[in-house]
Amino acid sequence: MWRRRLVGLPLGLGPVAKRRSEGLQCLFHGCSSDARLQIGDALSGAAGEEENVRVQGWVRSVRAQKEITFLHINDGSSLQSLQIVAHPGLDIRNITFGSAVEIWGKLVQSPHKKQNIELRADKIKLVGSCHPVNFPFKIKERHSLEYMRQFPHLRCKTNVFSSLLRIRSEASAAIHSFFKDNGFVHIHTPIITSNDCEGAGELFQVEPASNTAEKNDNSHFFDVPSFLTVSGQLHLEVMTGAFTQVYTFGPTFRAENSQTRRHLAEFYMVEAELAFTESLKDIMEGRLEQMLKNPFQVLSYTEAIGILHRSMKTFKFEPKWGCDLQTEHENYLVEHCGNIPVFVINYPYDIKPFYARDNQDGPQHTVAAVDLLMPGIGELYGGSLREERLDLLQSRLKQHGHKDTYQWYEELRHFGSVPHGGFGLGFERYLQCILGIENIKDVIPFPRFSHSCFL
Ligand code: 4AD
Ligand code: MG
Repeated sequence: MWRRRLVGLPLGLGPVAKRRSEGLQCLFHGCSSDARLQIGDALSGAAGEEENVRVQGWVRSVRAQKEITFLHINDGSSLQSLQIVAHPGLDIRNITFGSAVEIWGKLVQSPHKKQNIELRADKIKLVGSCHPVNFPFKIKERHSLEYMRQFPHLRCKTNVFSSLLRIRSEASAAIHSFFKDNGFVHIHTPIITSNDCEGAGELFQVEPASNTAEKNDNSHFFDVPSFLTVSGQLHLEVMTGAFTQVYTFGPTFRAENSQTRRHLAEFYMVEAELAFTESLKDIMEGRLEQMLKNPFQVLSYTEAIGILHRSMKTFKFEPKWGCDLQTEHENYLVEHCGNIPVFVINYPYDIKPFYARDNQDGPQHTVAAVDLLMPGIGELYGGSLREERLDLLQSRLKQHGHKDTYQWYEELRHFGSVPHGGFGLGFERYLQCILGIENIKDVIPFPRFSHSCFL
């Protein structure tokens, strides 16, 4: 029956008419008969002045005047809300900030300057009430991000957090278009893996829940110990062998016991890998220039340590050649260079993972690795050239005790191996950078960090 009704629809519907036609389908789910109008379409004027429209959404404000009550309704189709004019006679007693409503009425030009369009309500239905006292957000208060963080199940209802999530969604789409426009193939790298790409041991092991409680026989679901991925890099390296330029953009997991404002146990990483690349420069500038509009500085690790040594500052961790850079060191270097992005290149061989390409520059001995340090954030991205020379790779794997685990990785070097390299960029840290957000937990919908996995 519904097919017959839909066949009757005019062809070539415009976007608004099309969306409204979707409302027809509600007929067959027993909902209201007139099509729902998205608030974004109402406000953009795309719908024009119309009788008998129906909108649905959540109340963002209630302003009662002597005769008339003004409501603002938002359905998420636009950041802006639609003004509803409710004349006396309409039952709005239980309609409070946060409640869900359905409103029928006439869309008209608004006489007020603040908005073009408003809805004169004929009927208002309360769909879901919202307890005005218990609801943690109050109508006229400005809530801090820190306060909102206590309510990960409700904070998307605030203007501030919903705006952050909209930007996150746009940035994510922009990253995909950037890579697509530049000829990269998108690879879905696995979430479950048997490797520890970074070799730091910060792994969450994956086993069926039923195994952990009862079985103690050392058998594994996948026969080998498996983990949530810390990086899709090694899988991307496989794919460069066929596609030359590849990227992945997905969740990444680190069992780091740190609760800082820039660490999460689950975060999103943008990783790109390029074949036929022999220079760190390709990995640094070529791919990030669109993101980095301002000037930036390039320092070698050795120069960075020199700057830290010459500084008058007392660091908690003494900067020594051969040690990893701590947050305090990163911050100092960025400030020293005038608060601009700083690439640090050529790190000591002993502190970078097995895959980083040996610069063979003894006696200091460094690898072709790069970290990008950003003002206020510290490390935003890390990359390197990968060791494509079999003999050097084999001795490195042996040194790390990885001889058997990475046979497949060695094998890649037998079948059309080429110089290659890539990088990984923390998506949440990137959002922190572009939005100036202090705490990483405020740029991800549901933050996971040690001692917290709410929802
Ligand atoms: O420097 P990392 O560990 O590099 C890699 O995983 C490489 N395999 C990437 C590659 O070459 N394909 O991580 C890359 C970036 C960091 O620079 C940082 O921005 C982010 O991932 N990151 C984190 N973001 C939030 N919380 C954490 N715990 C993070 N750990 C790393
Ligand atoms: Mg790193």
